[in-house]
Amino acid sequence: MSTFYISTPIYYPTDEPHVGHVYTTLCADTLARYHRLAGEDTFFLTGTDEHGVKMVKEAEKKGLSPQQLADSVAPVYARVWAELSITNDDFIRTTEVRHKGAAQRIVEKLLASDDIYLGSYEGWYDEGQEEFVTETDAKANDYKSAISKRPLTRYSEPTYFFRLGKYVPRVLEHIAAHAEFIRPEGRRNEVISKLKQGVADLSISRATLKWGIPMPHDPAHVLYVWIDALSNYITALGYASEDDDGKFRRYWPANVHLIGKDILWFHAVYWPAMLFALGLEAPKSVVAHGWFKSGGQKMGKSLGNFIDLEKIRAVIGTYGQDSLRYFLLRPVPFGEDPDWSELEIHKAHTELKNVVGNCLNRVLTMVNKYREGRLPAAGGAVEDIDKQLIERTNRLSGELAAAYEKCALQECALLPIELARACNGYIDATKPFSLAKDPAQAGRLDAVLNYSAQGIYRALAALLPILPEKALAGLVQLGVSVEGRTLAELMGTDLPAGIAMAAPVPLFANVETPGK
Ligand code: MSP
Repeated sequence: MSTFYISTPIYYPTDEPHVGHVYTTLCADTLARYHRLAGEDTFFLTGTDEHGVKMVKEAEKKGLSPQQLADSVAPVYARVWAELSITNDDFIRTTEVRHKGAAQRIVEKLLASDDIYLGSYEGWYDEGQEEFVTETDAKANDYKSAISKRPLTRYSEPTYFFRLGKYVPRVLEHIAAHAEFIRPEGRRNEVISKLKQGVADLSISRATLKWGIPMPHDPAHVLYVWIDALSNYITALGYASEDDDGKFRRYWPANVHLIGKDILWFHAVYWPAMLFALGLEAPKSVVAHGWFKSGGQKMGKSLGNFIDLEKIRAVIGTYGQDSLRYFLLRPVPFGEDPDWSELEIHKAHTELKNVVGNCLNRVLTMVNKYREGRLPAAGGAVEDIDKQLIERTNRLSGELAAAYEKCALQECALLPIELARACNGYIDATKPFSLAKDPAQAGRLDAVLNYSAQGIYRALAALLPILPEKALAGLVQLGVSVEGRTLAELMGTDLPAGIAMAAPVPLFANVETPGK
């Protein structure tokens, strides 16, 4: 059985998750659900990144120790993911013993291979991003963070370096040879051109910070938070662990590290360099999504457009979880920056209701009214209009696989909706309600009912990773049992003639336009 390993970034547990974290995690959940349904042995990892200066500063503000802060916020993340029906298989915290020990053993390996040496760092650091900044970049941004716009901090201290420069040619070669390594395509060029400008060795320890994993051979230093954090993708699988349960052999290399575009450099450059130094394979792909804006602007607590859990819960309360999932994936081609807007959420929900809900409702109503709830077989001549719908229905499975392969999540969401829309168009054009009035047209009515049912059936099956609850409820109304069947089985076979269909129960609630 083929395997599929997908991860989210591990989040800093400084505060509750907001829409950005929810977005990343829901996208990853959709991919995990698809691959699980496709019958692949899937492992989906998320967690929290609990060390570093950012945690120290946040804890100070709240009058807590960093460990206390982590212990109070990490469980909130775990609970919110459960509340949002996220199907992660593990949740790793970097303060867990299993991670800390393995991260230290990773450093020992890098010391043994002479990929780490002692030197001193003099330069700029962006504490919000936990990132070293070159003099050129610092100057270009007026010695402020390019992201938070807060002043950079000057560091001058002894530090251990990782020989990043030594691995840059190999990383470049890897990126050039594997078009799928950095997605979407456009982001790949950004990384290549930055790499070509030359990259210095990476400072990977801090002697002035006390909160972190101690360097195994020199505990006066703690490990740089990004080296600690990136390692989670393999320590969670038991790499360099004392109790190896075979997960690393089973799942590495990861198929997808799903991340936000802000942290692509760490994942596309530092991480493969570290893996190469350890003699390991790079992940198959690093997929960067855009940043969620709000009201057309960058989101910020002080700007009053911050989308926190309360707002997310309110949307779920009004529209349901599945409509939120659909809205998050739908607005822009994957990789671009989506925008949070109440009106767009309403539109997304209404689209599901008017296209998918309506199509299912029409099919079920007619099968119940005209054929006593049993799907008739399609006999007689196949007309052109039927052929078009049948072809479209049969094409969906392949189109969907190609879209998921590229992690083109907007396409993954829209393809089934478009089939449902075509199905509605087919029903409008073939007019089964008129056919039903003429006994001589009984055969034609059977065919129309059958082809429309096959269409909405495939659309619903294809929506299972996006709308897990609603798609399942729709399939149950069609009389389909999903349990134990792969997506290929579901989509590769027609609904059998004679299958018993329930009376329709609307899938999506009626919600008034906001502001009315
Ligand atoms: N701890 C690091 C990641 C280490 S991974 C080995 C980190 N954490 S974070 O909590 O600051 O943010 C993690 C991710 O949250 C971002 O990469 C991105 O995926 C997501 N987002 C945070 N704000 C976001 C938006 N406004 N929009 C979309 N996603 C953003 O970086």
